[in-house]
Amino acid sequence: MRKTIIAGNWKMNKTPSETTDFIKALIPLVDGARCEVVLGVPFVCLQNAVEAVKGTAVKISAQNIHFEENGAYTGEISAKMLCDIGVEYVIIGHSERRQYFAETDVTVNKKVLKALENGLKPIICVGEHLSQREQGITEEIVSMQTKVALCGVSVDDMKNVVIAYEPVWAIGTGKTATSDQADEVCGIIRRVVADMYGNDVADGLTIQYGGSMNAKNAAELLLKDNVDGGLIGGASLKTEDFSIIVHAAE
Ligand code: 13P
Repeated sequence: MRKTIIAGNWKMNKTPSETTDFIKALIPLVDGARCEVVLGVPFVCLQNAVEAVKGTAVKISAQNIHFEENGAYTGEISAKMLCDIGVEYVIIGHSERRQYFAETDVTVNKKVLKALENGLKPIICVGEHLSQREQGITEEIVSMQTKVALCGVSVDDMKNVVIAYEPVWAIGTGKTATSDQADEVCGIIRRVVADMYGNDVADGLTIQYGGSMNAKNAAELLLKDNVDGGLIGGASLKTEDFSIIVHAAE
């Protein structure tokens, strides 16, 4: 019914030439996969990545955009620039960008709108910090992040939106959420979307889990009803591990 998407988020790893080599090695391992495979690579690697996946079903994602169309924003990259070179997805509001680059729910929303306006598919990241989970406010935090991120997004554009639930305490820590925890929060996100857009949109929405997903735990997480894929950091840097996760999604 809804699309399963396995996306790698390379973060600040790999050079352009390493990107080409990686994708060449990955393609035969994921060929014919019955889920969507996406690679989120650094800006300077995008062109090589787009070239390397030509003629395959693998899609390329950026890891950020600026929320304005163009202008005096030194060092920034626009949605239009990415579309022009054949990028299809963009990760927006990753917790590392919220933490180190002062992104807020409001700037995340502006970026989501700009991405959609330009035909880029946003992968919107939401997730609670450990202290928030311990306080018992995960539902409130994730619901608010979701609502603000989607403010002004039309029903029609929702078919191009992906949401990734990434509990901050599980990112890069080796501490994965249990499959029940992941399923529960992905279910909360789906209910929020149902309240905003109705059941059809919510049922069709791909909601990924991210946070120390790896070759060993992916199958269990992906079996859950509300978990429609993964956003994978560390384990997406190795072709072998990443392809195991892709096949786990089948
Ligand atoms: P890890 O898989 O390394 O925990 O990273 C998850 C993540 O942040 C993906 O966006």
